Amino acid sequence: MANTLTIPSNSPNIAILGAGAIGQLMYHQLCQSNEQSVNSIALISRQTDTQQQQLQFTDHSGLIHSKDTLILGTNDPGLAEVNLLLVCVKAYQVATALLPLLNKLSPQCHIVLLHNGLGPHLVVAEALAQHPGQGLTLGTTSQAALKISQWHVKHTGFGVTQLGYYCGCKLTSELKARIDKLHQDNQALEWHQPVLAVLWQKLAINAVINPLTALYHCANGQLANDEYRQQITAIIDELVNVAKWDGIELDPALISTRVYQVIKLTAANFSSMYQDVAHHRATEINYINGYICQQAQLHRLAAPHNQQLLEQVLQLNRL
Ligand code: PAF
Repeated sequence: MANTLTIPSNSPNIAILGAGAIGQLMYHQLCQSNEQSVNSIALISRQTDTQQQQLQFTDHSGLIHSKDTLILGTNDPGLAEVNLLLVCVKAYQVATALLPLLNKLSPQCHIVLLHNGLGPHLVVAEALAQHPGQGLTLGTTSQAALKISQWHVKHTGFGVTQLGYYCGCKLTSELKARIDKLHQDNQALEWHQPVLAVLWQKLAINAVINPLTALYHCANGQLANDEYRQQITAIIDELVNVAKWDGIELDPALISTRVYQVIKLTAANFSSMYQDVAHHRATEINYINGYICQQAQLHRLAAPHNQQLLEQVLQLNRL
C-alpha cells in the first residue's frame, strides 16, 4: 500500500525516472550491486507527493525479492540531492518528464538517457545549456524485463548495456563507479566514446525489428525468414546512408549481421513496438524510423522504406 510521506530524512542521490519494466529492473539491479548504499537509490514518479511502495523483483534464477522503495514526488525538496538520474521513460516522454525537473535536481546532476530510438538527446542537450553544472550520458540496453504487475518486474533476458558521455559536465568517478558495479551480476556494461555510433547501431536493430514485428504481427524470430530479407536490407541501407551524412560511419554488412544476431537471440520475444500496438499504446516509431526520416530530410536524402514503415505504424496506432 502506498503511504504519503513527509520529506525523507535520508535523501537519495541516485534516482530513476520511469517505473516501467526497464526502470524498475535498473532500480533493483542498482540496489543489488550497491548493497551498502541502497537507501541512496529511489524512483521518481509523476505524482507530486512522495510515497513508500513495496516493489517485487523476480531475478533471472526465479528468486523473488521484495524491497520498500521511496518514490519521490515531483515536489519533493529531496530532488535537490539527486546527482545521478537514470531516465527510463519512453522516448516520447523524455522531454515532458525530464525538462520540468532540471531546476529541481542537484545543479551538478548527471543525467543518463536510456531509451529506444534517437532524438530526445537533442532537446535535452539544448535545455542543459541553461544548467552548466549538469551533464548528459546516453545509453541503450538490450536487457529484457517483463512487468508482471504495476510494482513487480521479472528479469527475462541478459543483454549488453552501452553508455557514453554526450555533453555538459562529465560523470564523476564516484558515480561512474556506482554504475560500473552493475557488472557484478554477470551483466555486460560497456562505455563507448563517442557514443552516437553505438546508438545508431541499436537504432538499426529497432528500425528493423520493431516496425516489422508490429506490422506483420509476429515474434522477432520470424524476421529471419527469407521473405523479409529484401525489406530488411533496404531499411539498413537507408539508415547507413543517413548516418553517414550525420557524421557516423557504419558498415552495412556488420549492421546486418548484428540485426540478424538479435533476431536470433530474441527469437521468441515480441518486440516492444509489437506490444505497444497490441495494447493500443503510443509507439516509439517517431524516434526510430521517424528519426531516420527526419535526419534524411535534413540532409535532403530519400529514405522511402523507412518513411513507409513510419506511416504504416502511425496508421496502426489510429486503428
Ligand atoms: O524494443 C525491443 O523490443 C528491443 O529493443 C529489441 C532488441 C528489438 C528486442 O525485442
